[in-house]
Amino acid sequence: MQIAKWVVQEHLEGVPDVERMYRKVVEDVDVDLADDEMLFRTRYLSLDPYLHGITLDTPLGDLMGGDAVMEVLAAGPRARFAVGDLVQGYGGWCTHLVGTGAERPWQTGTFPMVFPAFRRLDPAHYDDVLPVSTALGVLGGSGMTAWGTMTKFMAVEPDHTVLVSGATGSVGSLFGQLAARAGARVIGTTGSEQKADYLADLGIEPVVYRHGDDPERIGDLLRKAAPGGIDRYLDNLGGAVTDAAFTLLNVHSRVAVCWQWATQVGNDHSGPRLLPYILFPRTTIRGIFAPEWFTEPNWAALRAEVGALVRSGGIRYRQTVHHGFDAIPTAYRSLYGDGRAANRGKVVVEL
Ligand SMILES: NC(=O)c1ccc[n+]([C@@H]2O[C@H](COP(=O)([O-])OP(=O)(O)OC[C@H]3O[C@@H](n4cnc5c(N)ncnc54)[C@H](OP(=O)(O)O)[C@@H]3O)[C@@H](O)[C@H]2O)c1
Repeated sequence: MQIAKWVVQEHLEGVPDVERMYRKVVEDVDVDLADDEMLFRTRYLSLDPYLHGITLDTPLGDLMGGDAVMEVLAAGPRARFAVGDLVQGYGGWCTHLVGTGAERPWQTGTFPMVFPAFRRLDPAHYDDVLPVSTALGVLGGSGMTAWGTMTKFMAVEPDHTVLVSGATGSVGSLFGQLAARAGARVIGTTGSEQKADYLADLGIEPVVYRHGDDPERIGDLLRKAAPGGIDRYLDNLGGAVTDAAFTLLNVHSRVAVCWQWATQVGNDHSGPRLLPYILFPRTTIRGIFAPEWFTEPNWAALRAEVGALVRSGGIRYRQTVHHGFDAIPTAYRSLYGDGRAANRGKVVVEL
């Protein structure tokens, strides 16, 4: 059979030049499964900004990784899943994959990590309101990131002012809605002016449109938006927004560091330069690494809480679906630069 995949061809820093970084490879493969192996067909692939780091740590010529929903097409006699099962796991930018679905260590050179074992998706949990592609979004990794940060660290209270940077994304938009439901006043930042209405519709208001990265200008905008200071900050960007936000932190504030565009993509390696600002307010800062919450009880709680809120209309989610294997690099590129103006929520490719 033919298997198509995108491999990493070149390591480049900065905003991804996908034409140079990835190469399509089509192979004729005789699939001969070991007893515990399966042949998976990719149905949906998640595109996430963190793939920037994964790309740089993937050996040249290797398959580009990515979170995926896959269907089991064939299975050895001791395989973990049966033919026809739908699973979610770290498959990759490929049409098909042969493997056991076991957890996989990833020695990134930056952080030693383990990609969790594939998990079976129960079709009964998904329907027209929450299609199976949401196992990559609101009911998947980004949902768990937002819900986990909210329920296990942030302790948002009704009188709080909460700031979410990158608020229009899959994580930020869910976290912002959960914080608004907890009664907080939620400020969201966006770099895409067209998305302000989208955030306001979600109850994430006021919206700070951070045109460019001028810290003084962002500081002015944030001071106006948060005259009483900031109690909780979900940081997806770092850089100028964080510089400004740290000067506004209230006593006993909490900061969740989810991602740092400024360092990862913008190559800004200055800092830590803001720690004096956390001294007086006694701020707690916590790194977020959502896989620590990828447990069956947490997946069930995410479905029960966030899934139920989506079904009742209390929470809204969006996903931007691209189509076809060849669209993968373009879909990934759309996370960056001007192209992202068209995206709302989770970006996935349907294969
Ligand atoms: N720590 C963890 O465990 C964990 C888990 C999941 C995700 N993450 C990371 O958390 C971040 C949010 O995830 P997500 O799924 O919500 O991603 P996403 O859906 O791609 O959203 C990211 C948002 O960041 C904004 N953005 C894009 N490019 C930007 C730029 N150059 N400068 C400033 N803002 C930019 C975009 O909003 P605008 O267009 O409105 O500016 C976009 O909506 C990602 O970086 C992801 O990799 C971390």
